[in-house]
Amino acid sequence: MKKGDVMISKKTIVLAGFILLFASLVIPGVLADNSCLNCHEKLSAFSEKEKELNEVVRIKHLARDIPCSLECHATTLNKIAKSNYEQWTKSKHALFSVTCDKCHGGDPDSDIKENAHIGIARSSESNSTVFFRNVPETCGKCHTNELKEFKNSAHYQKLKALKQAPTCDTCHQPHGFKVLNVSDFHDLCSNCHNPDMRVAPSDAPDKAITALENAQKLKDEIKLADNAIKQAKQQGKDVSLAQKDLDTAASIRDSLPVLWHGFNLPHFEEVIDSGIKSAQQAQLDTGLPLAKPSTPGFGTVLSLTGIIAIFLLLRRR
Ligand code: HEC
Ligand code: HEC
Ligand code: HEC
Ligand code: HEC
Ligand code: HEC
Repeated sequence: MKKGDVMISKKTIVLAGFILLFASLVIPGVLADNSCLNCHEKLSAFSEKEKELNEVVRIKHLARDIPCSLECHATTLNKIAKSNYEQWTKSKHALFSVTCDKCHGGDPDSDIKENAHIGIARSSESNSTVFFRNVPETCGKCHTNELKEFKNSAHYQKLKALKQAPTCDTCHQPHGFKVLNVSDFHDLCSNCHNPDMRVAPSDAPDKAITALENAQKLKDEIKLADNAIKQAKQQGKDVSLAQKDLDTAASIRDSLPVLWHGFNLPHFEEVIDSGIKSAQQAQLDTGLPLAKPSTPGFGTVLSLTGIIAIFLLLRRR
C-alpha cells in the first residue's frame, strides 16, 4: 500500500508535532508546582561524598581489572526513585499529567520530604496503594473499564485468593506503563503459563497470540471495507447499509483492548469473529467483488495500476 503508507507517515509526523508542541507548552506550566516531580527530578543516585568514595573504589577496581561502574555502589532507594522518575517522564502518563501522587498518594504541595511523603507506604506493605494486590484498584480509579473487565478474569480471582497471578503492572511495567506488542508478551505470560509451573494453563500464551492476530485480521478487513465503500461512493452507489456494518465492525475493534482484560479468550475470539463478519458484510453490501486480505496484491496492484496509467498518459503526450 504505497499511497496509504505515505499518508500515514504524514499524519504521524503532524501528530508527533502536535504532541511535542503540547509537551513543550503545557507540561512545564502544569507540572512545575508538583513537589514530587521537582524534588525527584533533582535526586541523584549518590551524595557528593558517596560519589567521591565511589570514584576511588571504581579506580581501584579498574586498576585491578575488575569491571565495575558507579552502579554497584548506588544507594539503592535513591537510585530507584531517580530512575523511576526518568522512566515516568517518557511515559504517556507524564504527557497527561498523571503525576507520582496520583498513584502513590502523599502531598504534592509540600517541598519537605517528610511531609510530602506522609501516607506513602512502601510497595511491600499491604496497605500501600502500590502493593501488588491493591494495584488494580489504584489504576482502576482512572482505567475504570479495564478494571471492570479485569475483575471478571481468572487473574483477578487468583490475585484476590492470595495466589500468584499478574496484576496491572506485571504486564505494564512501572514506570513506562506501555502497551505491550504481541511479540513482547509471549515470554511474559510464559513465566507462569508453562508446563513446569502448573499454576495456570500452559497453552494460554499461544492462544492469546492467535486471538490478537485475529484482532489484526479484523483491522485488515475494516481497511478493505473502508476502501470498498470509498470506491462504491465514487461510482455513485448507495453505501448507507455498508457504512452501518462498517461502523459496527469499527466499534467492535475499538472495544477489544478493554475486553481483553477479562482474559476470557473464547469470548474474546467470538467478539472478534462477529467483527470480521460485519466488516466482510460491509464489503458485500457495496456490491463490489470481495478483496482477499491474504493476497499481497491488492495494494500493490492498485499502486502499480496507477503507475502504469501515469506512464501511458505521459507517453500519449
Ligand atoms: C524534598 C524532596 C522530595 C519530595 C518533595 C518528594 N520526595 Fe519522594 N523521595 C525523596 C527521596 C530522597 C527518596 C529516597 C528515599 C528516602 O530518602 O526516603 C524518595 C523516595 C520516594 C519513594 C520510595 C518509597 C519510600 O517511601 O521511600 C516514593 C514512592 C516517593 N518518594 C514518592 C513521592 C511522591 C508521590 C511525592 C509527592 C507527593 C514525593 N515523593 C515527594 C525525595 C522527595
Ligand atoms: C500510574 C501509577 C504510578 C505513577 C504515576 C508513579 N508510580 Fe511509582 N510505582 C507504581 C507502582 C504500581 C509501583 C510498585 C512497583 C513494584 O511493585 O515493583 C511503584 C513503585 C515505585 C517506587 C519503588 C518504591 C517501593 O516502595 O517499592 C518508587 C521509588 C516510585 N514508584 C517512585 C515514583 C515517582 C518518583 C513517580 C513520579 C515521577 C512515580 N513513582 C509515579 C505506580 C506509579
Ligand atoms: C489519574 C489517572 C490515572 C491513573 C491512576 C492511571 N492511569 Fe494509566 N493513563 C491515564 C491517562 C490519562 C492515560 C493516557 C490517555 C489514554 O491512553 O487513555 C493513561 C494511559 C495508560 C496506558 C496506555 C499507555 C500507552 O502508551 O498507550 C497504560 C498501559 C496505562 N495507562 C496503565 C496504567 C496502570 C497499569 C496504572 C496503575 C499502576 C495506571 N495506568 C494508572 C490515567 C491514569
Ligand atoms: C496479563 C497481562 C495484562 C494485565 C494483568 C493487564 N493488562 Fe492492560 N494490556 C495488556 C495487553 C497485552 C494490552 C494490549 C491489548 C491489545 O492490543 O488489544 C493491554 C492494554 C491496556 C491499555 C491500553 C488500552 C487501549 O485502549 O489501548 C490500558 C490502559 C491497560 N491495558 C490498563 C490495564 C490496567 C488498568 C490493568 C489492571 C486493572 C491491566 N491493564 C492489566 C496486558 C495486561
Ligand atoms: C504471575 C503469573 C501469571 C502471568 C504472568 C500470566 N498469567 Fe494468566 N493466569 C495465571 C493464573 C494463576 C491463572 C488462573 C489459572 C486457574 O484458575 O487455574 C491464569 C489464567 C489465565 C487465563 C484463563 C485460562 C482459563 O482457562 O480460564 C488466560 C486466558 C490467561 N491466564 C492468559 C494470560 C496471558 C495472555 C498472559 C500474558 C499477557 C498471562 N496470562 C500472564 C497466572 C499468570
